[in-house]
Amino acid sequence: MEDLSPKPGDLDPIETASRDEIMALQLERLKWSLRHAYDGSAFYRQKFDAQGVHPDDLTSLADLAKFPFTVKTDLRDTYPFGMFAVPREKLVRLHASSGTTGKPTVVGYTQRDIDTWADLVARSIRASGGRAGDIVHVAYGYGLFTGGLGAHYGAERLGCTVVPVSGGMTERQVTLITDFRPRVIMVTPSYMLSILDQFRRAGLDPRETSLAVGIFGAEPWTNAMRLEIEQAFDMHAVDIYGLSEVMGPGVANECVETKDGLHLWEDHFYPEIIDPETGAVLPDGEMGELVFTTLTKEGLPIIRYRTRDLTRLLPGTARSMRRIEKITGRSDDMIILRGVNIFPTQVEEQILKCAGLAPHFQIELTRSGRMDELTVHSEAVPAAAEDAARAASARELAHHVKSTLGVTARVVVHLPGGAPRSEGKARRVVDNRPAGQ
Ligand code: DLL
Repeated sequence: MEDLSPKPGDLDPIETASRDEIMALQLERLKWSLRHAYDGSAFYRQKFDAQGVHPDDLTSLADLAKFPFTVKTDLRDTYPFGMFAVPREKLVRLHASSGTTGKPTVVGYTQRDIDTWADLVARSIRASGGRAGDIVHVAYGYGLFTGGLGAHYGAERLGCTVVPVSGGMTERQVTLITDFRPRVIMVTPSYMLSILDQFRRAGLDPRETSLAVGIFGAEPWTNAMRLEIEQAFDMHAVDIYGLSEVMGPGVANECVETKDGLHLWEDHFYPEIIDPETGAVLPDGEMGELVFTTLTKEGLPIIRYRTRDLTRLLPGTARSMRRIEKITGRSDDMIILRGVNIFPTQVEEQILKCAGLAPHFQIELTRSGRMDELTVHSEAVPAAAEDAARAASARELAHHVKSTLGVTARVVVHLPGGAPRSEGKARRVVDNRPAGQ
């Protein structure tokens, strides 16, 4: 694979600024952001007043802990436009995330917000090894989801030629990658696997493509999956993180030269890690729930937003801004099976250890009598599709799951093509337990 380390002069000055400089900028911007939220949004004003805090109470970054958290239901309760801090006419774009239940959460951007977002996605693509002049194939979904348009504007801002394919129509994805010869692809890692399958079905060697960099996010994925994709395509696989409530993709991104966690773009987002039970702020290095406060956002300032994503804060390496460890799960994705906590990414790691299994999978939860049961639906690779080979793979995976996660799982190894495919964010867990028991 190509060495894609940045050359001197490639980076924005803030990417190599000292911690003191970064913190001074954060404090100045945080004061502005709290004031803007309080003055512009009745929602925040009421919340701050109820807690007896005022933007003037913040004189240091640590004072942020005095302010109330914001949670996803706050956005639902104020649906559709109740949290915005500018008049609706100042918003140039809306996005929304569907969520699994109830009303979607709606987010809005001013022109300046869209500009900042494009700058940060451009910075993220550059950190991943992309550069001006590249062809960028965007297979994140376009529409209300922030993935497609977020990636698109960032790639344009960097000076790339964007191919706005969106998700789905996998055969066409392969044709366009073969014919247009993009250097960069932006897509969910699970959909990249569907594209990989299609390359093989078409008899094409994925290692021969023009792709040098994949920028994968919107869902948890493991370092084992990174290796799988890097080897299959002979390309770099880099992690991009973000969420619509805070902005969209490009809140944090890995650097291709280190691939050691995601640098948070701290000049625009202030991170905290809290104990998810007590809400107490934890020191850097400790595992907990990631919380964000936006520092420059006008349309929808977000103060202490509880992401439900579990990770820890680590010092900067390739950049001076801090990193988050690769996110392996959300507190609400966690399966508690007979008292044992399990994240789908832990199952993914075990599947990738089995040579006879393809990387596609889904976890099904059922109930038999009073016992919850977990079934892993996996899939054989073509070379191990015979009944005996599939049975052996099933035993192997069940053994790995038992010995590493400590639970007994039923494993079904489907024929090649038999496990559900993703065209965007993969649905890793299907809960078929009867409701309300
Ligand atoms: O998924 C934004 C995005 C689009 C990020 C494209 C990266 C690429 P939402 O739909 O609001 O926004 O979902 C946000 O997805 O809280 C995480 O739980 C999860 N997530 C996003 N990126 C990653 C990642 C977009 N790199 C939620 N690793 C977040 C793990 C991720 N989880």
